[in-house]
Amino acid sequence: MKKILLTSGTSGIGKAILYHLLSDNDKNQIIVNYGHNSDTANQIYNSLSEINKKRVTFIKADLSKYSEAKNFTDFVIKKFNNIDWIILNTGIDAKKNGKRVVFGDYDIETWEKVIRTNLSIPTFIIQDLQKNINENGKILFMSSYAGIEPYSGSLVYSVSKAGIINLTKSLLKFFDHKNIAINAIAPGFIETPWQKKRTKESYDRINKKIACHRFGKSEEVAKLCIDTLNNDYINGSIIEIHGGYGYF
Ligand SMILES: NC(=O)c1ccc[n+]([C@@H]2O[C@H](COP(=O)([O-])OP(=O)(O)OC[C@H]3O[C@@H](n4cnc5c(N)ncnc54)[C@H](OP(=O)(O)O)[C@@H]3O)[C@@H](O)[C@H]2O)c1
Repeated sequence: MKKILLTSGTSGIGKAILYHLLSDNDKNQIIVNYGHNSDTANQIYNSLSEINKKRVTFIKADLSKYSEAKNFTDFVIKKFNNIDWIILNTGIDAKKNGKRVVFGDYDIETWEKVIRTNLSIPTFIIQDLQKNINENGKILFMSSYAGIEPYSGSLVYSVSKAGIINLTKSLLKFFDHKNIAINAIAPGFIETPWQKKRTKESYDRINKKIACHRFGKSEEVAKLCIDTLNNDYINGSIIEIHGGYGYF
């Protein structure tokens, strides 16, 4: 039985990870965070079997805010005390009034919100929970291929995800004494609600750059996450999954 923490687990990649965690081991206990949409969390909860309902606890916490992140880690410690796996999947792009903001139009609040949500708060969550992670535990961050090969249209997002890559490697030494493995997944373009506003032209343009000629599926990323977590010799790795992006 493992006690598992998953952030942003009610949509796209996070939801797929949740389902994989439930089927990976029928004794896993999972705390699942989401940011805003309780209806979606309730729908997922209601769709679970009675046995799985007992294994999953949903908790709302806007992880773009330090105060809510602290309440969240307090809740996790109270509920679980000790934790085996931490999967930090939360990530946002720079947006204002629902529209993506690009370099040239950034204001400090927009920049800082992305860095805070994608990089600073994941760091503080790990710091808050450091004493509660079990020996041989696992930490898995959701980075992005944009953190390796930056997308200029998502500059601050790319910078934040590059930070996660550095964080993954930097933390290894701090957790060496407990043999805790720390890795990051770096997906390319994955078909999730995140991509829902993309036009057909945009899909076609991007698909031409991908050797598999399609966006990835959430399930494909989720399977990689679970395989990584279950493999005790993967440590300090940044694992790319992008179907051969930029293969020319
Ligand atoms: N999709 C891609 O192409 C792609 C590629 C590379 C990396 N990634 C990374 O993969 C992760 C998941 O992306 P996705 O595509 O699966 O996204 P998604 O389908 O849009 O899912 C978003 C999830 O994040 C939650 N969320 C949003 N704001 C939050 C906040 N402030 N605090 C806590 N939770 C919050 C949402 O919950 P509410 O709805 O309740 O707010 C929802 O559960 C992100 O880190 C993203 O950067 C995605």
